[in-house]
Amino acid sequence: MQEKLIDGKAIAEQIKKEIAAETAAIIDAGKRAPHLAAVLVGNDPASETYVSSKEKACRKVGITSSTYRLPEKTSEKELLNIINFLNKDEEIDGFIVQLPLPAHLNADSIIEHINPHKDVDGFHPVNTGRMMAGLPSYLPATPFGIIELLHRSGIQTAGKHVVVIGRSNIVGTPVSVLLSRKSPKGNATVTLCHSQTVNLPELTRQADILIAAIGVPSFVKADMVKPGAVVIDVGIHRITDENAEKGYVIKGDVDFDEIVKVASRITPVPGGVGPLTIVSLLSNTLAAYQKKIYQ
Ligand code: GUN
Repeated sequence: MQEKLIDGKAIAEQIKKEIAAETAAIIDAGKRAPHLAAVLVGNDPASETYVSSKEKACRKVGITSSTYRLPEKTSEKELLNIINFLNKDEEIDGFIVQLPLPAHLNADSIIEHINPHKDVDGFHPVNTGRMMAGLPSYLPATPFGIIELLHRSGIQTAGKHVVVIGRSNIVGTPVSVLLSRKSPKGNATVTLCHSQTVNLPELTRQADILIAAIGVPSFVKADMVKPGAVVIDVGIHRITDENAEKGYVIKGDVDFDEIVKVASRITPVPGGVGPLTIVSLLSNTLAAYQKKIYQ
């Protein structure tokens, strides 16, 4: 059972060690540490958790972090002032604007004001465009996590049929592009499925690697999975359960208890894709510091 599970936590720890070693070498050479900033508008509890996990992860690998906390009522102009400041500050290598933003702020137009060289979330259209063109770019967190999980678990993608369920801009669409690219971590044949797909189970049953990013708890059932397939579960949902110690359980987009019996490898939730997402931010920040993407 153990080897069936793809241990995202262990893989994330390994990558953090690699980043920590590179950061230590930078500091030992007498240079300043890489610096990641986050902008948090309002008091969304999930965003607070995400930002404090990011601060903790930065501390662990020797990356400096700073968080700009702004009130819920912050105007677009005030937010853009902070973004312009961060764009120019030479001691900040990369920054993110935590999403979701309060309803009166338009995330797409805010993101367009981030300097693409510092856009370590990989959300700016320049970075998504560069990714599409096969040029070096900052990869968004979840696609980065999926690619690294597959690669570091020894799961070949070349020539495989990957079926992705969900076409979001932050997961389904970019991971489809990356896995179909002509590159050592790509070269797969990718089918991207979505809410208008006809005969979804027929397609998912053809997948050598099935990636579920639909945002619906336990959506993928065992009869939708080919025996021996690799299953990557991107979902994370808190489901009320009075019998559970905490009053809830965490579920993904796949029916784990049944699918684990037919899949060859599977990511658990939690502990699969999730731990890799923050690592991507650290990795992108280090790349920004080293000016590895835009040379
Ligand atoms: N909110 C949830 N995930 C993310 C992320 O990866 N980046 C940003 N900026 N906000 C998020």
